[in-house]
Amino acid sequence: MVSGVSSPKKIDCEQDAAIVVEGLERIYPGGLRAVDGVDLAVASGEIYGFLGPNGAGKSTTVRILTTLLRPTGGRASVAGYDVVEQASQVRRSIGVALQEAALDPLMTGRELLQLQGALHGLRRAESKLRAEELLVRVDLVPASDRLLNTYSGGMRRRLDLAMALVHRPSVLFLDEPTTGLDPVSRTSLWTELRSLNDEGTTIFLTTQYLEEAEQLADRVGIIDHGKIVAEGTPQELGRLVGEPGLYVKLIDQTQSDRARELLTVHGAVSDRAAGGLTIRTGLGARAIAPIVRTLDEAQIEVDAVEVEEPTLDDVFLAVTGHRAEEAAEDDPA
Ligand SMILES: Nc1ncnc2c1ncn2[C@@H]1O[C@H](COP(=O)(O)OP(=O)(O)O)[C@@H](O)[C@H]1O
Ligand SMILES: [Mg+2]
Repeated sequence: MVSGVSSPKKIDCEQDAAIVVEGLERIYPGGLRAVDGVDLAVASGEIYGFLGPNGAGKSTTVRILTTLLRPTGGRASVAGYDVVEQASQVRRSIGVALQEAALDPLMTGRELLQLQGALHGLRRAESKLRAEELLVRVDLVPASDRLLNTYSGGMRRRLDLAMALVHRPSVLFLDEPTTGLDPVSRTSLWTELRSLNDEGTTIFLTTQYLEEAEQLADRVGIIDHGKIVAEGTPQELGRLVGEPGLYVKLIDQTQSDRARELLTVHGAVSDRAAGGLTIRTGLGARAIAPIVRTLDEAQIEVDAVEVEEPTLDDVFLAVTGHRAEEAAEDDPA
């Protein structure tokens, strides 16, 4: 744990905790500690964002919490039920949309939803009604009679969500619900998740995007190599990075060497792979005016100066001392 990060929210009343995880561990055959002593608590009605790079242990945790995989150590309860001892009660209380959901491409959205209702024990009429409600809810009515293999990525994710909601679960688990989606589909899914949460559904969602966690989550846990390395509200995590840097884009890229030289008086300057410069002054947006003035005096024309919001990578670097992309290659032992 890094100092300055809030400790897990204390849940005074056990009934208020939708998810309680203590010392959770999953060692895969061969010895890999995919989940390595995770403690967390999610209050009823919260949106908890589980943020981490590929291979961090997010899906393994979700699989344990949704009773699909047994932990090799520790314990967890969801909706008040133990995930090992009371797996069927847990299953009745939760909705799950997994990363690798395999849907039958030769069924229509409506058929699949009705089937899901039947699997949850709804009678035929009930199941039809529920399917219609959910199609409206996730905005799939026009596509409801089309085969799944004609659905876009965003439509599939919305159908995944609808399927997870058939039995009105109190706790919803979503494993990287928007990975690979275009920005519009992502935003519309966020809106849907917010409204579900407003109606009282507790949401546990994994993501690789800090922005997603920032937009949606009340609290965020950052996981790396199976361990929670930081936890807090999005604002608290953002602060770990310090003042944001500024991105400076020049009209004439050939002036970039000269600009870099001149800007070092304001702070640390680095090149951006995509072109342009990043400058860290410790002043955030307040440094924009002096930077533009310096460049202006040297007759270097500025195309844009933007505040760079901290990315997952920046937060990651701040809490772990290494970059997120390198995480998967590090030796966990
Ligand atoms: N069935 C498995 N057997 C062995 N190792 C696994 C298995 N599933 C996942 N892993 C490994 O466990 C680690 C965590 O994986 P995972 O939980 O899928 O991470 P994430 O969802 O954060 O990408 C990774 O190193 C992954 O390769
Ligand atoms: Mg995963």
